[in-house]
Amino acid sequence: MKAAAAVPDKLRVPSGLAGVEVAETRIGKSDSDGSLVYRGYPIRELADNAGFEETAYLILNGSLPARAQLLEFSSALKSSMDVPPKAFEVMGALGGGAHPIDALRTTVSALGSLDREGVAAAQQRSIEGKMAVLAANCHRVPRGERPFLPDGKGGFASSLLRMLTGKSIEGYDLWAFERVLLFYMEHDLNASSFTVRVVASTLADPYAATSAGLAALKGPLHGGANEDAMKMLLEIGDPEKGKEYVDSALERKVKVAGFGHRVYKKFDPRAVLCKGYLREMLKRRGEDDKIYRLCDAVEAEMMERKGLPPNLDYYAAPIFYLLGIEIPLYTPIFAASRVFGWMAHYNEQVAENKLIRPDAVYVGPTDLRYVPIERR
Ligand SMILES: CC(C)(COP(=O)(O)OP(=O)(O)OC[C@H]1O[C@@H](n2cnc3c(N)ncnc32)[C@H](O)[C@@H]1OP(=O)(O)O)[C@@H](O)C(=O)NCCC(=O)NCCS
Repeated sequence: MKAAAAVPDKLRVPSGLAGVEVAETRIGKSDSDGSLVYRGYPIRELADNAGFEETAYLILNGSLPARAQLLEFSSALKSSMDVPPKAFEVMGALGGGAHPIDALRTTVSALGSLDREGVAAAQQRSIEGKMAVLAANCHRVPRGERPFLPDGKGGFASSLLRMLTGKSIEGYDLWAFERVLLFYMEHDLNASSFTVRVVASTLADPYAATSAGLAALKGPLHGGANEDAMKMLLEIGDPEKGKEYVDSALERKVKVAGFGHRVYKKFDPRAVLCKGYLREMLKRRGEDDKIYRLCDAVEAEMMERKGLPPNLDYYAAPIFYLLGIEIPLYTPIFAASRVFGWMAHYNEQVAENKLIRPDAVYVGPTDLRYVPIERR
């Protein structure tokens, strides 16, 4: 009998593909030194100057739009927000127990069946606009509530925020929300964008790739972290209890939501900026800064104990909370923005396509003999 393949002491494949370069991209890049660029622009440069539609255009097309291009893009995006009633029927049929991301993913799949003849570019515009409307309503509609629809006023961020909260929010609060959306838009080969590229490489349509991206986004190690971070902050409740919570979590080997990152080891530049926006929001509102102090206390203890910095999800969560957005909508908001990055990755993959089909190092046995069921 041939000996079974030896199981190596150390895996030959880096766990989680950490550090393995698997694609060339011109869309965006995060780096361990805490830098992030979108199409060559440092994230801070865009955060300080650009709007959501401008950045989405940049991510999708590779350069900042001229005024006429921006107007055309924004207007096409607005028009594509018309969700067919049938899609809301599908979402509503899932019932109140549906997880919002499941409802969103199922409805995006349903949209794909309703739009089978469309060309990929038109399908993509359609998904980008409709995703915002579906994301805002994926918690309401399954519970039997009527959808909040876009009213055609204002830009993408203000429209999305109105659908999420049922209120018109302006000024610094809206500006900060738009920055968070901007940060959620793109992040090179994160799990969901990589998933989208794998599906795109089979030449499946953009709806299929987006549904797969949503599935990857759902997990607590990826998009689900912003909801977990907020639930955790509410559970701790008091800045004085931050240290105690972290110590107990680490002792129990429980991951602290919103901390750590595969790429950023020193700091996540988006979290640093969002922390500043959170503080400024509270200051401008003249509100007690307890939530800021709580975030800061947990952050200080995590840095002290594990050297782990907070990520974007950690500081996006309290910003969403202050805006009055229900927690189950936090990951759907992530999707409403990341879909632009997904579509950019879809196109980049398809433009120079090669089926993504990696190899595996087989470490199991190879010569087992079949044993009839009655003898097992
Ligand atoms: C994001 C994440 C999945 C990155 O994972 P990764 O690159 O595979 O890193 P690992 O999970 O292997 O973590 C490395 C070490 O840091 C620890 N660690 C990482 N994130 C941690 C967290 N949030 N809380 C406590 N410890 C954490 C791990 O336990 C591990 O410690 P060890 O070496 O003593 O075993 C991970 O940091 C995490 O689960 N964070 C919480 C979820 C989250 O915020 N996700 C959103 C990411 S943007």
